[in-house]
Amino acid sequence: MATRRILRIDDAADRKILKAHCRPIKLPDPKLKALIADMFETLHAAQGVGLAAPQIGLPIQLTIIEIPPLYETDANGDETDAIIEPARPYVLLNPRIVKLSEEYVPRMEGCLSLPCWYGEVPRATWATVEFQDLDGKRQRIRRAGDLLGWAMQHEIDHLNGILYTERITNLDTLRNVDDEHAALPDLAPELPAEPTL
Ligand code: NI
Repeated sequence: MATRRILRIDDAADRKILKAHCRPIKLPDPKLKALIADMFETLHAAQGVGLAAPQIGLPIQLTIIEIPPLYETDANGDETDAIIEPARPYVLLNPRIVKLSEEYVPRMEGCLSLPCWYGEVPRATWATVEFQDLDGKRQRIRRAGDLLGWAMQHEIDHLNGILYTERITNLDTLRNVDDEHAALPDLAPELPAEPTL
């Protein structure tokens, strides 16, 4: 296993690859297992929630998501090491959105391809997604809300060459958490509150 370099939105050569429409994957493909292991290692190293193949330079329809574990809190409300719910990993091959809720809510989101930056993006409150597993079998996740539904919308956008910065409706909401760390050191432990997709 190895970590891969994550391409950046603000680099001209990287951006060209990130803007490409990804091609479907023919399944099964025995080479995918090693690639997916590298993607999870890269995701963990970057402390993100989701990573799409084009972000490591591969224009193919593959994305991974890992919903972080839920930890028990102590009397002060601080997280302990005790896990209530383990992490939930997802591997989505050739995914597509089948249905979105009519209602959209603005949420602050970030992307591993633009470290430290967060902006407000309107996302559907839930998404139904169809995809293939490693055996090529069709699977469906119905009405996924919260972080999973939101991450799937962000990652499937990546596969279609759409970056979250293009979906920000009010650019005044775009902010750099690193600057805030410098300006407001007292707040630093609380940042970033938003997940990096
Ligand atoms: Ni992203």
